[in-house]
Amino acid sequence: MTERLEDIAVKMVADEKGLLAADESTSTIKKRFDTINLESTETSRRDYREMLFRTDAAMRNCISGVILYEETLFQKAADGTPFVDLIKAAGSLAGIKVDIGAKPMAGHPGETVTEGLDGLRERLANYYKAGARFAKWRGVIAINTAENLPTLSSVKANSQALARYAALCQEAGIVPIVEPEVLMDGKPGDHSIDVCAAVTENVLRIVFNDLYDARVKLEGMILKPNMIIDGKNARKASIEEVAEKTVRVLKATVPAAVPGIAFLSGGQSTEEATAHLSAMVAGYDMPWKLTYSYGRALQETALKAWAGRPENVAAGQRAFQHRAEMNTLAAKGTWKRDLEKAA
Ligand code: 13P
Repeated sequence: MTERLEDIAVKMVADEKGLLAADESTSTIKKRFDTINLESTETSRRDYREMLFRTDAAMRNCISGVILYEETLFQKAADGTPFVDLIKAAGSLAGIKVDIGAKPMAGHPGETVTEGLDGLRERLANYYKAGARFAKWRGVIAINTAENLPTLSSVKANSQALARYAALCQEAGIVPIVEPEVLMDGKPGDHSIDVCAAVTENVLRIVFNDLYDARVKLEGMILKPNMIIDGKNARKASIEEVAEKTVRVLKATVPAAVPGIAFLSGGQSTEEATAHLSAMVAGYDMPWKLTYSYGRALQETALKAWAGRPENVAAGQRAFQHRAEMNTLAAKGTWKRDLEKAA
């Protein structure tokens, strides 16, 4: 049976479930493990991710899909069960990060272009065989108002790459998550929420034009955007303002044919990321499903509780389950701050 792209995409955002972004590259997971003084090895990465994927209630009730890094897609749990099988057994989908990173863009100081298109058709065929049914590619757009960034050329280069990636995914029977991230935690991180809104609106317009030109089927993709929020070193917008401006920009740029929008957390605190999503879902009528595709905002507390120790696996799983449940409530629009305290 061949699965239709549309059905996979709908499943990724159905029932107020969301995505667990566990696709940290080897260099990024090392940075995360550094915060708990744990050496990053193939085994420690396996143990950490096994803890998450074996959190049965979270996986079954909250997580529709897991974005994996290539190593994890082909990795096995300690007892020899392939991770992909563990994920499927919980009723969740396996996905794969396919870009090979944001690299400095020639002639564009302070900007990057994401690479990974060469050989992608062949890699996608292998990932499909290994069980991946969706993929992710992250383009990175940095704001620096003093330097007049982003440049149009960097936005266009990243957008073109996203569109070419998305078309190749669909050809392979894989749903593309299209992630054009306008950074909140870049340097200097002092931009206002209105600058973020203007830049993001422009980026999304260009991205959807390029997706259209590349003949990407909008019904068979998921958008993973940043929220409209002020820079990390200038945070002051209220929850309501973030929700209102994010919904306005998305409505102005994202066609209703797209089944779902799954936000990145981008350096927001765990609770902020939850509160913002809940405020959007509770406050506005929208043509798409809104949910989460969080990395740090789903994992931070679990990583700390685990701290790399086998005796803390249950504590790490409780922390992950709690964040997954809070975010699934947010996707319903019914999260309340007291629920955090109660836990
Ligand atoms: P964060 O939620 O930590 O931003 O990560 C999401 C992600 O997948 C970034 O590409």
